[in-house]
Parts: sequence; structure tokens; C-alpha cells
Amino acid sequence: PPLANIINVYDFENLASKFLPHQAWAYYSSGSDDEISLRENHSAYHRIFFKPRVLVDVSNVDTSTTLLGKKVDIPIFVAATALMQLGNPEKAEVNVAKGCGQAGLHIPQMISTFSSNSIEDITAAKSSDKQAQWFQLYVNGDRKVTKDLIQKVEALGLDALFVTVDVPLTGHREKDLKIKFSTADNGPSVAQKKKKDTKQDNGASKALTKFIDPSLSWNDIIEFKKHTKLPIVLKGIQRAEDVVKAAELGLAGVVISNHGGRQLDFARAPVEVLAESVPELEKRGLRSDNFELFIDGGIRRGTDILKALCLGAKGVGLGRPFMYANSCYGEEGVEKAISLLKEEVETSMRLLGVTSIDQLGPDLLDLSTLRNRSVSVA
Ligand code: FNR
Repeated sequence: PPLANIINVYDFENLASKFLPHQAWAYYSSGSDDEISLRENHSAYHRIFFKPRVLVDVSNVDTSTTLLGKKVDIPIFVAATALMQLGNPEKAEVNVAKGCGQAGLHIPQMISTFSSNSIEDITAAKSSDKQAQWFQLYVNGDRKVTKDLIQKVEALGLDALFVTVDVPLTGHREKDLKIKFSTADNGPSVAQKKKKDTKQDNGASKALTKFIDPSLSWNDIIEFKKHTKLPIVLKGIQRAEDVVKAAELGLAGVVISNHGGRQLDFARAPVEVLAESVPELEKRGLRSDNFELFIDGGIRRGTDILKALCLGAKGVGLGRPFMYANSCYGEEGVEKAISLLKEEVETSMRLLGVTSIDQLGPDLLDLSTLRNRSVSVA
């Protein structure tokens, strides 16, 4: 169908469910176990309501801000997703890079350690140095491999290092496990080197997990900090105590995330964790412009984005929607997804009575129902 028929980011998902190869759909869409966290990630946003302000002049609204020091046209980013070529051999991270570099729609792209395209090709596809690209790091058991990789991405001009900390092993994703996976057809640049080890595994995620070191701990993070000038952000933080710890270590930030519901099932929705983290930081005097809070998981609407920003997030990530948009339409799909979200954010900002991102705060939210979870496993 023509791109003009797409009116929200769910439309990309519906299309992808019909047109993607079976293996790609299973890998992309799955959550772990009973997929309760996957569902909660999004439905938790449905338990937050707005307290709009009226009689504010909203003729002009500005959705731009900065993330880790670079200007963005809207405070969202493409969360790292591995193996983008599974969905469409012609459209992978290079197309995402192009989609994120359009004038007026600049947003950062987080590039997975397991990207299908090479990091060199993805960085070369940037429209200019104004476009932010972040590297998502999976830490290998051989720290030399990891240190070399950090040096390489630093030399290639990436803007930040997002160390994923919620994957000591991959979660139990059953849709994905049912599909036999062979890296022979669609190997990621890094995992390809491990072809011999991974070929016999069931499921794409299980194949990748062998690269990742389950012994990763806080001490390693302190080591990486000495080793690179890049800002370090921890991705996959799931409790306020760990947010505080990261701030105390002087890191550049955290992404509050449960990996899109793909790791520990029944990990709480990130938006709940965000809501309790900010007061903990404030209590300790650790809330600062040098420590940025990011969040991802289940964000699909402009209103979801605004709720997270009101709660103190600086930037908001989306994973699957950009994957689906890119698999179906390449860079034009990515661009369309960004512009749809920007329009939704602008409309909702006007209706909320705010004209710039820095006016968003918790006073605009009613959180009284946030904890009213109703979980039933079918
Ligand atoms: C991911 N995610 C992920 N995270 C990461 O740090 N490195 C990676 O390589 C991947 N790969 C990956 C593949 C697929 C198919 C999915 C769906 C997710 C997690 C991702 O960065 C992000 O946390 C979630 O996707 C956010 O949730 P939503 O927006 O997909 O609901």
C-alpha cells in the first residue's frame, strides 16, 4: 500500500505482520514467556492521564531540544534493534540513518552491535555531522574485542556509547525459538565472525547471545569509562536503585528499559520505574543536566512520548515501530514514522497548553491510576 495510507505507527506493525518473512516477524515481534512485560510496557501508558492547561497561546510550538549535547527536532530516538536485514534484505541500518537525517526531522539512531550493515556504511549514510548516531555495545567475554570495538566507533565519530546491561543471556522468546535460525543467510556483521558457533542454534536471539558476556558487572563499566571519551549510558536499567548508582558513578545517563519485554517477563513497565526514579535522584541531589534519563518500551503515540517527558525523560526510544517502518518502506518509512510522531506530539502539546519541551513536567499528569495493574494470563 502507498505510504500515504499510513496514519499512525501501528499501521507499520500491521503491515509487517502480513508481509515480513515468517522468521523476521517471529524475531521482531516476540516478547519473553507469557509476554506480560511486552503488553505492560504499552498499557502502563494507558493508566496515566493529563491535566491540560487552557487559555495558553499555542499558535507556535517547538518540539526541538538536545540529547547528549546534540540538537534533535523531536526528543525521540531509534532504539537499537539487531539484524535489520531479516525483514527486508534491501533495507537495513543504512536506510534508518538516511531516514533520521531529514531536515526538520533529525533524531538520533542507536546502532546495534549486531547490525546487519557495517558500522562504516551506517556512519557514511549520515546527512551531516549534526545528525547524532549512538553505538549500542554488547560486551564480549574477550575484553580486547570490546575495547577494540569501542575504539573503532570512537574513531568513526559516533556520539555516545550505550552499554546494554539487561542481557546476561537472552530471554525465553517462544515465537522466535520455534524458528530454526541459520546465520548463513542473514548474518550480522559481528555475529558473522562467530558463524561456526551459532549455526546450529534455534532462534535468532539464542544465536546472538553467545557473543555476550554474562559476567559483565559494575566494575567493567568503571573500566570502560577510563577507556573512552565517549559519554557512557547504561541501557536496560529496571529499578530506581540502579538509576541512582549510575548517576553516582558519573555516567552520562541511563535508558530505563526492559528490552521491549524480551528479557525478564514481569519486569515492570519502564514508565513506572521512571516515575519512581526521579524523586530518588532528587532526594540525593543527583538530578542534573549532566545525567540524562532515557526510556524505551511500548511507546507508540505522541501522548506516550509526552507522558515520559513530563515524568523527567530527556529522550524516548522506539524499537519495533522503526524496524517495521524500515522493513516495509526503507528510509521513507522511517521518515514518515518520525513525522507522524512529531505531528502527534505537536497536536498534543497544543491541547495540553505547552509550547516547548522544557515546559513539560509532572504537574501536567494525573498518576493516581498508574499502579492499578490488572494482570491476567490467558
Ligand atoms: C531489540 N532490542 C535490542 N537492544 C539492544 O540493546 N541491542 C540489540 O541488538 C537489540 N535488538 C533488538 C531486536 C529486536 C527485534 C527488538 C524488538 C528489540 C531492544 C530495543 O533496543 C528496545 O529496548 C526495545 O525494542 C524497545 O521496545 P519497543 O519500542 O520495541 O516496544
